[in-house]
Amino acid sequence: MNKTFYVTTPIYYVNAEPHIGHAYSTILADFMHRFHIMLGYDSYFTTGTDEHGDKIAIAAAEKKTSPQEFADRISNIFSQTWTELGIKSSEFIRTTEDRHKKVVQEILQKVYNKGDIYFGSYGGNYCYGCERFLTEKEIVNGKCVEHNKEPQYIEEKNYFFKMSKYQGWLIDHINNNPDFIRPERYRNEVMSLLKSGALEDLCISRPTSRLTWGITLPFDDKYVTYVWFDALINYISALGYPDDERFNKYWPVSNHVIAKDIVKPHGIFWPTMLHAAGIPPYKHLNVHGYWNMDEAKMSKSLGNVVKPLELANKFGNDQIRYFFLREMTFGLDAKFNEEVVIDRINYDLANDLGNLIKRSFDMVAKYFDGKIPAFNSANPAGRDELISLFNNSAEGYVNHCVKFQTSVGLEKLWEFIRYLNKYIDENKPWQLFKDNNIKKLSSTMRNLLESIYNVAVLLSPVLIDTSRKIISDLQASQKSRHVKDLTGMNLLSTGEKLSEIGILFPRIEKDKIIKQDTKNKVKKDDKSIDNEEKIEKDKDEGLIDIKEFGKVDIRVAKILKASKIEGSNKLLQLEIDSGLDTRIIIAGIAEHYDTEYLIGRKILLVANLKPATIFKHKSTGMLLAAKNKDDGKLYLIEIDDAIPVGAKLG
Ligand code: MSP
Repeated sequence: MNKTFYVTTPIYYVNAEPHIGHAYSTILADFMHRFHIMLGYDSYFTTGTDEHGDKIAIAAAEKKTSPQEFADRISNIFSQTWTELGIKSSEFIRTTEDRHKKVVQEILQKVYNKGDIYFGSYGGNYCYGCERFLTEKEIVNGKCVEHNKEPQYIEEKNYFFKMSKYQGWLIDHINNNPDFIRPERYRNEVMSLLKSGALEDLCISRPTSRLTWGITLPFDDKYVTYVWFDALINYISALGYPDDERFNKYWPVSNHVIAKDIVKPHGIFWPTMLHAAGIPPYKHLNVHGYWNMDEAKMSKSLGNVVKPLELANKFGNDQIRYFFLREMTFGLDAKFNEEVVIDRINYDLANDLGNLIKRSFDMVAKYFDGKIPAFNSANPAGRDELISLFNNSAEGYVNHCVKFQTSVGLEKLWEFIRYLNKYIDENKPWQLFKDNNIKKLSSTMRNLLESIYNVAVLLSPVLIDTSRKIISDLQASQKSRHVKDLTGMNLLSTGEKLSEIGILFPRIEKDKIIKQDTKNKVKKDDKSIDNEEKIEKDKDEGLIDIKEFGKVDIRVAKILKASKIEGSNKLLQLEIDSGLDTRIIIAGIAEHYDTEYLIGRKILLVANLKPATIFKHKSTGMLLAAKNKDDGKLYLIEIDDAIPVGAKLG
């Protein structure tokens, strides 16, 4: 029987159009769905829209339209956006659909019959943004911490769900299932909420005298259901709960994707609701961080909302999928700006991947008339090593991605891609051709093409169109895509003619793209850095004591990428892993070292140097090199491979 997987996104409020925050969660879920299909799973993926509640009623009234018309319009925009972004969910669920309303009423009745819903009165501070009553801690300076708006005090008679009854059960469940909520920081957040005092019961209704835009309570038609109690149920109504086969099949393997803003309803309301209704809890809650615009929160009021389709039209769909999945470390916030997008496209996609493929295809065209050469066992050209490196990378990629750690996973895969570029430089096919060493040349090119096929298969959940194109240009559309079959590196057909691949990822000229206002901002930053440098220079030179030396943080770092800086013969831009982070430094070693030689080398880094701008590029740190004063040559201080990255000197 097939292994199964079920992934969901939050269902988005229809009070505003999609922005890149929504797009990220949906792309991540779409990736996880495709990724599991690639691994041979039977996978199901749902997304949709959350359409009831005050927020929507208010937004519709502002536009002088009915809530239903309003919801129809925005829900449509969400679903069309996902289609245009190549996102293919198995189900798009709307909370205004009958199939959903029916399940909500069924669950309410079940929990009511059990005695877990009671009628009472409640007064509290209500935030319309959060669509819930706030606790004291969530109000700072009289305002909701999330929405920076004053909550409204509301007192009324309502129905309550006995959430408090399940506090102990939930604590035990989380203790017994450590990865129920991941990553750990959000599990801890939920645990500390649960342990900070008695859990309050949850108000689950709104009187129709105040709000009619909701699902009527099955046991009292003067009330509608509180929007969170309604919305969370989408995760099972979309599976046809209770009778549909899909529910039995996929619910036990459910993986919710959300951002950190809605941990409480998902980490506390939802599992207790499920438990009260006699339904097993979901399997994992996967919580990612927030995309911030530079350092600020993205919000309509700040006018810095980025629309996903505009971004995709500007940079390409595959490109932005790759960017999102590579750039955000699972669980942490990430910074969004177009420069970071362009860097990822230029370095990872154009330089590393695009170049590798173009070079390989061009050489096969030149040396073998474009036909896939046979592997020649008389000279394997390092095939065993290549296979073992591929297996390591692929394993790292898969093992991290199954835990939603796409960024680390992709980095693992890129280790192999970068190695392949090095493999070309070291094997020098042009030299083999010149020397008429056809045996090794055939094996080298075949090894490369097989490796490219493997990479394209593994990347197919990320680079949807590009992977398909690479595979088709390798005449391999009919070949096995099973990950386990890739390890043989012998899937392509000898003699098949490669198609013209072209440039897969055109390099993007930053200056042409980045808006003038961003440029001005960067210029301002440069000036202040120049001043800081000047002040540093003016300081007295002389002897230092040990305390002063101790201030210098020197550590072992690894060079991940190296590229020349346009217009400079001396400077290289290096991306390095410092053990603390991945950062960019600018080093004046271009005349002394080839970029290819540097990749993968360990060096010594001054990690706490103030950032400086060199040749318009920001450098965060400095590598240590020694100068031979006779010939002026620079020598890097290289480090024994046994010393780990991040190790501190002193
Ligand atoms: N309707 C509720 C969810 C109900 S699920 C049963 C809701 N909707 S929302 O439209 O506000 O969407 C919130 C979600 O959108 C976040 O949890 C996250 O998935 C995504 N994001 C919104 N802004 C985001 C960022 N700035 N960064 C990353 N993701 C963000 O809450």
